[in-house]
Amino acid sequence: MLFINRQTLKKKSNRLLVMLYVDGLKKGFGSGRRRLEVLKGINLKVEKGELVSLMGPSGCGKSTLLNIIGGLLEGDSGKINLGSFEYGTKSPNKVVDVRRKGVGWIFQDFHLVERLTALDNVIFSLELSGVPTSEAETRARSALERVGLGDRMNFIPDQLSGGQQQRVAVARAISGSRSLILADEPTGNLDVKSAKEIIHLFQDLCREDGISILMVTHDPLQASMADRMLLLKDGLTAASDIRSAWGIEEVN
Ligand SMILES: Nc1ncnc2c1ncn2[C@@H]1O[C@H](COP(=O)(O)OP(=O)(O)O)[C@@H](O)[C@H]1O
Ligand SMILES: [Mg+2]
Repeated sequence: MLFINRQTLKKKSNRLLVMLYVDGLKKGFGSGRRRLEVLKGINLKVEKGELVSLMGPSGCGKSTLLNIIGGLLEGDSGKINLGSFEYGTKSPNKVVDVRRKGVGWIFQDFHLVERLTALDNVIFSLELSGVPTSEAETRARSALERVGLGDRMNFIPDQLSGGQQQRVAVARAISGSRSLILADEPTGNLDVKSAKEIIHLFQDLCREDGISILMVTHDPLQASMADRMLLLKDGLTAASDIRSAWGIEEVN
């Protein structure tokens, strides 16, 4: 009896811990002799509250992988579980809820609406996903406070530094209470100091708020600030020990 209880408990806690499962995911483009197999059977998981970095040579399929996880593109085969969502090969119009409720996005070039204030940028995106205006405003204010922009809410992107603009994008991504944030080279347009601040913010969001983040980066130092590092190469992911490869002792 005791044994059964322990097993049940273990199963339950495992289920709570793993936020994202990707199982045998394959994706290629084109046909015939022009066919390019990009993802050749990706297996990975991201736990709740975990910051995972994804590295790999240019053109190896990092964005393709994120796009499939984010419900913007369908895989050829394989399976993805994100919370209660199950997809992977479903076409993007069948996974609307993954985009609306499952994942938040952060891009290299921020993707903010230039004419809207920081606050309205976040509200706008919440409204698009169906949140009523008054609730959207409360949630947007709290997300902007969370990323340290409480005193910049009424500034438009042009009046903010690159790092601050990316913080608005982070606020937008977390305001929808999404469990997984996908960040595709989020620091690619930032100076070293702002980039480090964004990664520190990611660390806080994971550790304190239990958000999971899968982040693509080219920078080994930034990658090494994640809880775990993955390398995508020749269509497969493997654990990467970039810390020892680069002689990095400890980065915080
Ligand atoms: N829609 C598409 N049609 C054809 N080829 C594509 C498409 N999207 C990506 N690719 C190809 O797939 C490979 C991986 O691209 P991508 O995922 O953008 O790489 P990364 O983000 O790692 O730089 C590249 O060779 C790219 O040209
Ligand atoms: Mg890319």
